[in-house]
Amino acid sequence: MRPLREGSVVFVTFEGPEGSGKTTQIALLERALHATGRRVVATREPGGTPIGEQIRAVLHAHENVALVPAAEILLYAADRAQHVREVVVPALQRGDIVLSDRYAESTLAYQGYGRGLDMEALRHITAFATGGLRPDLVIYLDLDVELGLQRKRRAQALGRGEWNRMDEQATAFHQRVRTGYLTMAAEDPERWLVIDATRSIEAVHRVIYERIETML
Ligand code: TMP
Repeated sequence: MRPLREGSVVFVTFEGPEGSGKTTQIALLERALHATGRRVVATREPGGTPIGEQIRAVLHAHENVALVPAAEILLYAADRAQHVREVVVPALQRGDIVLSDRYAESTLAYQGYGRGLDMEALRHITAFATGGLRPDLVIYLDLDVELGLQRKRRAQALGRGEWNRMDEQATAFHQRVRTGYLTMAAEDPERWLVIDATRSIEAVHRVIYERIETML
């Protein structure tokens, strides 16, 4: 599959540890871009398609503690293969801006740096799943791991958001994930925008919006 990438198409992905505010920022950016008359598709991984939502349920179910890392990565990859072909590529071909709550970099951070799976294998599986489609910009909302998990627990207690199988991994796992994100961002600073997620929602939004405007 060769995705069409013409004109000023923009594929932006949001990454970050648990509770970093990706979902809030995507909603704000989507609204701001709509207000300027732009067409935007906001989507997510895992999920984003009816089949992907079923895969998400398997991945996040608390009872699936027996899920082995190799099966876990292949389920994330299956979700991504469906998502790219059913949602992302068609939207980019229409000329829409695509904002995705997580994408391939989550696999490298969680299954690679977090679980310790072989990075080369992960890159091959990811390239197969995506058909080589890479984001134009990765927005990484950086946050202390404990603080993020605390935020997420609080939101869940108020009935907002979920507390899933991945959230239950040890703090050391989440710390490796964060270190992984920061390493990838440092290796590719042109494609990654790192933002301190402890700043106010409005301040984070402003930084994101200004960067996107320069790309359009
Ligand atoms: P979220 O929708 O709350 O961000 O939850 C998604 C969870 O799935 C989060 O813990 C990160 C994890 N994940 C992976 O481990 N690998 C992946 O490739 C993706 C997309 C998500």
